[in-house]
Amino acid sequence: MNSEPDYLNADLKFSGTDIPSGKMIWRSPSNIALVKYWGKKPVQIPQNPSVSFTLSKSCSETEVSYTPATPGKPELEFYFHGQRNLQFEEKTSKFFESLSGIFPFVNQLKFEVRSKNTFPHSAGIASSASGMSVLAMVLCDMERQYFGTLQKEEAFSRKASYIARLGSGSACRSVYGGLVIWGETDGVSGTSGFYGFPVIEGVHEIFADYQDTILLVDAGEKKVPSRVGHGLMNSNPFSTKRFIQARDNMAKLLLAIRTGDTETFIRITESEALTLHAMMMTSLPYFLLMKPNTLQVIEQIFAFREKTGLPVSFTLDAGPNVHMLYPAAIRKDVKQFIDNDLRVFLSPLGYIDDMVGNGPEKIL
Ligand code: PMV
Repeated sequence: MNSEPDYLNADLKFSGTDIPSGKMIWRSPSNIALVKYWGKKPVQIPQNPSVSFTLSKSCSETEVSYTPATPGKPELEFYFHGQRNLQFEEKTSKFFESLSGIFPFVNQLKFEVRSKNTFPHSAGIASSASGMSVLAMVLCDMERQYFGTLQKEEAFSRKASYIARLGSGSACRSVYGGLVIWGETDGVSGTSGFYGFPVIEGVHEIFADYQDTILLVDAGEKKVPSRVGHGLMNSNPFSTKRFIQARDNMAKLLLAIRTGDTETFIRITESEALTLHAMMMTSLPYFLLMKPNTLQVIEQIFAFREKTGLPVSFTLDAGPNVHMLYPAAIRKDVKQFIDNDLRVFLSPLGYIDDMVGNGPEKIL
């Protein structure tokens, strides 16, 4: 395994009375895994490599205001869509506290975090990926602005990805646009379990602007947090085989993405989605995140593909909603398919028309 970067730095501290006040706003996207991360080792290191598309529209936009704090007493208030949210407040406070060796300056500040999502919270769209990556971007931006470090884009993104991973594993992939690998991957040098790695070259043009229409079957809160799901993989009787399969799928999928082989892409991504949920069903305690309409939508996608020969496929995250993946060139046909055959299975929220995106963006 690549060695872990050493980001502990006692110098990243404001001197004496020189503690600033200010505000930053970043927007960071969610991502959808094609080969899934499910199962981890301490600390937040994946049991197998994964690869995802970073999305474009499904984002968290987060405003972080900071003022000097009472020394030794980190304080943080969290507002989600304008409402104080104590659950997020506790999670973010803990996250910031855990980073005090990497960013000692967080202990010197009082934070007010105001965040909003462009998609329903906890609906199987990885809200922790956008939510944690956006905080990582802000913290690295503060380091860059006040301490003059991380000037090079590569160093900035790598550290942001490392920090995002500590917040939520899959968040490390949201720091980059396009196709992003997390975890050491055979044949791709530079990949690591400590941070994400963007696949910049060799992506076939058909995948460069691939579409992901997120069909919102059920926009309620999910019942089993992914942290619990990952933990259950430690005792899942199929886990060892699963981790080997994921490695194998990485090689096959990356080749398909380079060659524009949509048939293999479909086979691997759909198998990955069903395997992820099979792992949930074979854990003890077992659990089900799919809903009846998840299966209805999947059946419709199979039938549509059979009938038209068009390369439309699905994947699932840790939730009931279906991500429908397809090339931009067949958008019109897919739109018609949704209107005619899928709408009846969707929640009143309908769907989110998303696609591969460029990664986080600084707003202020
Ligand atoms: O980052 P976490 O701990 O929320 O785990 C996410 C796991 C999946 O979304 C199900 C798969 C993945 O690779 O994103």
